[in-house]
Amino acid sequence: MPAFVVQTPVRRYIAKVERGILGRVPYYLPDTAGKVFVVTTEDVWKAHGRIFSRGMAGREHAVLFHPGGEERKRLSTVEDLAVQMVEGGADRTALVVGFGGGIVNDVSGFLASIFMRGVGVVQVPTTLLAQVDAAVGGKTGVNLTSGKNLIGTFHQPLTVLIDPEVLSTLPEREYRAGLYEVIKCGVIRSEKLFRLMATRVAAVLARRADVVDEMIAESVRIKAEVVSSDEKESDLRRILNFGHTVGHALEAETAYSRFLHGEAVAIGMKAAVHLALLMEHLSADHAMEIMQAIDAYGPVPPTTGIAPEALMGRLASDKKTMHGQVHFVLPRKVGAVRVVTGIDQDLIYSAIKSALR
Ligand SMILES: NC(=O)c1ccc[n+]([C@@H]2O[C@H](COP(=O)([O-])OP(=O)(O)OC[C@H]3O[C@@H](n4cnc5c(N)ncnc54)[C@H](O)[C@@H]3O)[C@@H](O)[C@H]2O)c1
Ligand SMILES: [Zn+2]
Repeated sequence: MPAFVVQTPVRRYIAKVERGILGRVPYYLPDTAGKVFVVTTEDVWKAHGRIFSRGMAGREHAVLFHPGGEERKRLSTVEDLAVQMVEGGADRTALVVGFGGGIVNDVSGFLASIFMRGVGVVQVPTTLLAQVDAAVGGKTGVNLTSGKNLIGTFHQPLTVLIDPEVLSTLPEREYRAGLYEVIKCGVIRSEKLFRLMATRVAAVLARRADVVDEMIAESVRIKAEVVSSDEKESDLRRILNFGHTVGHALEAETAYSRFLHGEAVAIGMKAAVHLALLMEHLSADHAMEIMQAIDAYGPVPPTTGIAPEALMGRLASDKKTMHGQVHFVLPRKVGAVRVVTGIDQDLIYSAIKSALR
């Protein structure tokens, strides 16, 4: 099974995709590490904790629970976890294992980055979104009441262990939301992955092992490649934001309650495709193929009551925080995109309007 190298200025590490790896975690923990603190949520632990613990084969580990949910992805929960680590005897050699969805990965990465000025973290992501996106790349963070991920660090994991088997218990809607990020990876960088998603819909939805393993591996390969060339937020890494410009605006406009992240990205990708068409960056055939692939994994919650003007307003306020530039990642064809700024407001408006229909 595949392993992908992530090369960053601070660390070179492996992201491994392997069925059953959940039962073999200790083989991938550094010998030099001291006490192991597994950060997880109740539901993940209930579903997969036994396999994890049995696999630890006597290696001592404390299990710390995060309550889960965006509203609890906060500094206060990080402090609670840090207190529990101290009480559990953690020192500078402590190792954090983030065992859960993207929220757990972000929180445990952040915790590890600041605990005693930084300890190691191993990520064991359990949602499709976390496996193909959140766990690789070293971005960590928590929310403020004023916005998502406003506090955070870059803290690369020591390794990322991805077991596609754990997806068997993932709720359907969470799974589908993750699939949109996989489609994103295909559109930005892999025609092969895109074709898999476009042609094997039934197998993907049935979570057939061979297809699931391939789509995860290809997505992780792409994320590892992009992150390796550019750890911090600059040009190449920006391509991962395909669908996210409008997606983030939609999430914020609906107070993070109507759409799952991936669902908002699906609508955002449609807006970007409309924009690419209007700007003649993309042929109608390719645009149609991308739209059909997105729709094949729907439906997403309805966009009723969301005015394009409101989303334009969100983009304008984002603009202030991004040096006056709103970036759009626009497909040129399936498998290739370009990052474009300074786009005419009327075109953006039309594209958003079409995507909300
Ligand atoms: N750091 C990054 O680069 C990055 C990238 C993308 C997203 N994120 C972050 O990820 C978060 C979203 O992550 P998410 O979509 O994974 O949501 P999540 O972490 O809230 O997980 C979704 C739900 O599924 C449950 N769950 C997880 N794995 C399960 C399993 N195998 N079986 C059954 N239930 C399971 C969780 O407990 C939770 O209730 C956001 O906060 C976002 O900001 C970070
Ligand atoms: Zn995303």
